[in-house]
Amino acid sequence: MNIQHNISLKKYNTFGISVNAKRFISVTSVYQLQQLLKVEKDIFLISGGSNMLLTKDINKLVVHIDIKGISIDRENHNDIYLTVNAGENWHEFVLWCVSQNYGGIENLSLIPGNVGTCPIQNIGAYGVEVKDTITKVEAIEIETGKLVQFSNKECNFGYRNSIFKNEAKGKYVLTSVSFQLTKGNHNLNTSYGAIETELTSKNIENPSLKDISNAVIAIRESKLPDPKKIGNSGSFFKNPVISKEQFEKLQDKFPNIPSYKVSDSEVKVPAGWLIEQSGFKGKRFGEFGVHEKQALVLVNYGNATGKEIFELAQKIQKTVLDSYQISLEIEVNII
Ligand code: EPU
Repeated sequence: MNIQHNISLKKYNTFGISVNAKRFISVTSVYQLQQLLKVEKDIFLISGGSNMLLTKDINKLVVHIDIKGISIDRENHNDIYLTVNAGENWHEFVLWCVSQNYGGIENLSLIPGNVGTCPIQNIGAYGVEVKDTITKVEAIEIETGKLVQFSNKECNFGYRNSIFKNEAKGKYVLTSVSFQLTKGNHNLNTSYGAIETELTSKNIENPSLKDISNAVIAIRESKLPDPKKIGNSGSFFKNPVISKEQFEKLQDKFPNIPSYKVSDSEVKVPAGWLIEQSGFKGKRFGEFGVHEKQALVLVNYGNATGKEIFELAQKIQKTVLDSYQISLEIEVNII
């Protein structure tokens, strides 16, 4: 097996943080992974590296999941069932589906990362979550090397959450994800305000999958930094859910506070608004800061350390807690 030594992980994480892996290996097949796990169980997994902040060198063996391939399992008149290996790039997969007229994930265009990690945080954007199209996740159990399957229900999906962030955390290597997508009669989701505005501005009344994908790409490009140019990990915090009572008290003090109803007793408040109101939007502290167009995104301008970005996140959490009595939960994995 080709284990490399003292490798910089800068190009393996979208934050572009330069920490070192003492030992590093890329695996390109399930078989290779199973062979590796026979001799090495204390591993650190890296895939697209799009949801992690690396604050220190990694002493464990870093295993880069690079298993590629897409297969069509079956199809009928309306639906197509596909299995996609973990190392496929998410956005390239979305674009391929759009080009084949397979519907269901077009709203999730341009999300960084690989297919193998999309179930972990149940990626979501513009009114769609990936859980709505996933039928099955395959994984290798690290302890036994056995191939196991999780049905959609067993994944226990929630808002930016799944079993892989909870009971199953650290126990499995996700190797493939299976999807059910539509071939016609697509269930288009264009209700998100920004998508409607984008389509209207282009005079598109009956959008195709490609029109929606293009609209999402345009919206994301206008608000979110491209990780190839400015290191980032998308939304650094989750949008907090608070009680209706707490929200009403806050509304008395801050009449403009935006919100989305979650249930009769709970309300979601955009973390981006709380951070912007706290004065952090667009603030730059040398090599790191808060993105100028979306306050939920922390950025590395080039040479920041993970520790510096984590300290900024803690400062933001404290300021928001002091002003609004709301705890912001970090969405990104801090390593
Ligand atoms: N807002 C501000 N200032 C900001 C940013 C947002 O006031 O700097 C307020 C505005 O009121 C705006 C509202 O927040 O109307 C919502 O903003 P936006 O539509 O940009 O969405 P978000 O809630 O900030 C979430 C996801 C994004 C996803 C968008 C679109 C989370 C943690 N984030 O952001 O996901 O792209 O909705 O669906 O739920 C990601 O997870 O990495 C990510 C980018």
